[in-house]
Amino acid sequence: MQQINFAIIGCGGITLQNHLPGLAMCPATKVVALCDTNPATLERARQQTGVTITSTDYEDIVKRDDVHAVIIATPNFTHPPIALAAIAHGKHVLCEKPLALHARDARAMAAAADQAGLRHMTAFTYRFVPAMRYLRHLVGRGDLGQPYHYRSCRLQDWGTRNLGWRQQKKLAGTGELGDMLSHRIDFAHVLIGPMKRLVANTRNLTPVRGGAPNDTDDWVAVLSEFACGASGVLESSKLASGRNESWRSLDYVEINGSAGSFVFITGQWNQLQYGKLGGPGLETIPVPREFWTWPGSPRDPDAGDPLVTFRYDQAWEFVDAIRRGRPCDNSFHDGARTQAVMDAAVRSAETKQWVELEP
Ligand SMILES: NC(=O)c1ccc[n+]([C@@H]2O[C@H](COP(=O)([O-])OP(=O)(O)OC[C@H]3O[C@@H](n4cnc5c(N)ncnc54)[C@H](O)[C@@H]3O)[C@@H](O)[C@H]2O)c1
Repeated sequence: MQQINFAIIGCGGITLQNHLPGLAMCPATKVVALCDTNPATLERARQQTGVTITSTDYEDIVKRDDVHAVIIATPNFTHPPIALAAIAHGKHVLCEKPLALHARDARAMAAAADQAGLRHMTAFTYRFVPAMRYLRHLVGRGDLGQPYHYRSCRLQDWGTRNLGWRQQKKLAGTGELGDMLSHRIDFAHVLIGPMKRLVANTRNLTPVRGGAPNDTDDWVAVLSEFACGASGVLESSKLASGRNESWRSLDYVEINGSAGSFVFITGQWNQLQYGKLGGPGLETIPVPREFWTWPGSPRDPDAGDPLVTFRYDQAWEFVDAIRRGRPCDNSFHDGARTQAVMDAAVRSAETKQWVELEP
């Protein structure tokens, strides 16, 4: 098996938590180069990995012949220029979500990668939760029937602490919308297809966070109509005090259709709730063991905390797509489609109007 050499651009939180352990699990892959604009962060990553090729300038890294694929894990506004530079040098790219600050940039990334014949993937990590994958399978099989309603609710307690680049619109684009709701918009697309129109609202209830200005949304809600005819209600907040953070907080999706209803909760990674039309109510159904890991993934589902380790299957999917020369599940097109919904939500919140989405 030929070795795939990776470069990582951005060595902060998500790289350490997710990308490095994910790649470490994949056979015949090696991280050969690292980039971060912060010399101290770069040095910490160098010491942790033993990787000797490092730079604070991504151009130095993406042009290297010994790099085959690039993972971009930097603040949102930097994603398009870094991705386009990597693509111009013939590298496969896995880019963090949200892909860009605007859908036109996300679409340009997808078009450039397609034109160059490269693999491209958006880090919609929660697609890899075993229960989400099983739900996708059941809905695809027809167990939901005709979709009626999609409902998602993400409630976290981030208090008023400083969020760094995440609380600056010019660096992040949006707050809760891009940070958290983007994943739940993607869930909706995966489960019941594209949205047709939406109306949205956002709120900034913490204009100062940790002593610094915050001009991003802490809360967002979207009311939508899907092309399939279903209705959608999506809400996400950083200010659900007392709900804790991360996977210990609420990440709830419910879909109702003509044949039944399903509830997915990230924290309950190996079960769903299911109710059949006319039945006695929701019951818990287990996720079969064959869904505990992504197809072909070498990950041992019994090793480590399953609410952390499911994320490593994302790297496996990217590596496997490169090896087989097939599209990634999911691609930059999925990232761009979610970005278009985010752009529409921003426009709707500003204009207080319904916004139509392009088919
Ligand atoms: N998929 C997920 O579930 C998930 C989870 C967390 C974060 N993210 C995404 O990952 C990205 C990074 O988030 P994070 O939490 O790791 O942030 P972070 O601030 O911890 O790390 C970002 C790093 O990028 C570096 N950086 C900034 N500009 C750079 C540039 N031009 N070139 C190279 N390095 C640069 C910073 O110095 C920092 O070390 C964001 O887009 C975020 O939305 C996704």
